[in-house]
Amino acid sequence: MYNDPENPIGVFDSGVGGLTVVRALMERLPFEHIQYFGDTARVPYGVKSVETIAHYTTQIAQFLLERRVKVLIIACNTMAAVAAGVVRDLSPVPVLDVIEAGALSALAATKTRRIGVIGTPTTVNSNAYARAIHEIEPEARIVSQACPLFVPLVEEGWLDHPVTRLTAQEYLRGVLAERIDSLVLGCTHYPLLKPMLAEVAGPGVALVDSAEAMAERTAALLTDLDLHTPSRRPADYHFHVTDVPLRFQTIGERFLGRSLNNVHVVKW
Ligand code: DGL
Repeated sequence: MYNDPENPIGVFDSGVGGLTVVRALMERLPFEHIQYFGDTARVPYGVKSVETIAHYTTQIAQFLLERRVKVLIIACNTMAAVAAGVVRDLSPVPVLDVIEAGALSALAATKTRRIGVIGTPTTVNSNAYARAIHEIEPEARIVSQACPLFVPLVEEGWLDHPVTRLTAQEYLRGVLAERIDSLVLGCTHYPLLKPMLAEVAGPGVALVDSAEAMAERTAALLTDLDLHTPSRRPADYHFHVTDVPLRFQTIGERFLGRSLNNVHVVKW
């Protein structure tokens, strides 16, 4: 039975970045159990081909469905950009993805309908955010920028480092010149750069955090489907990863904002 409210929520990402979504879910829905999958052996996805990403994404979704998750959440913007359809086709449970959630939040945040989107090269090349936003608001003007250096900088922990600030100024120059009033942080890693990006973008630009948007969407879906857990016991969290690389614990805890326990290594 998939639609048992006591079942966990399944969340997945190419690596540890999706823990920003788990963190937002833990805050918004503290009693919900979570099974997380991070493909730490094969990250990063943001520079891989669509075929490869679709193949990996299918494997991960099937893994979580075997664990009887009641909802599947694609926390990775890159997977959501190019493989959300593949997951929806195979899944017997509802599928939410960060792009859909981020697009809705961007439209709620903008007044001028001039929206910036930053993400990995694959996400930006896919145009998925622009398509999702235009489906709801065809008049919106979308300006996108790939920021491939942000992922390694965040993993290095350089969240407020002069190198990261310079990199952000460089990446955002063209987007800001288009007089956007909201900027979608279209990658799992970018919410950690929020304070610095807010300074670089200035007070006239609202930052749209796709992790927070995702947690709100999940809460609304559970309400609509009457799938909130009735349990008021502490939730169970399980983290499945395909590798435990150097500094995994430190980086993971930075994303999650708390200690990372119950880590299981999956050998494929
Ligand atoms: N999780 C990816 C995303 O949100 C970033 C890391 C990667 O390239 O795999 O786009």
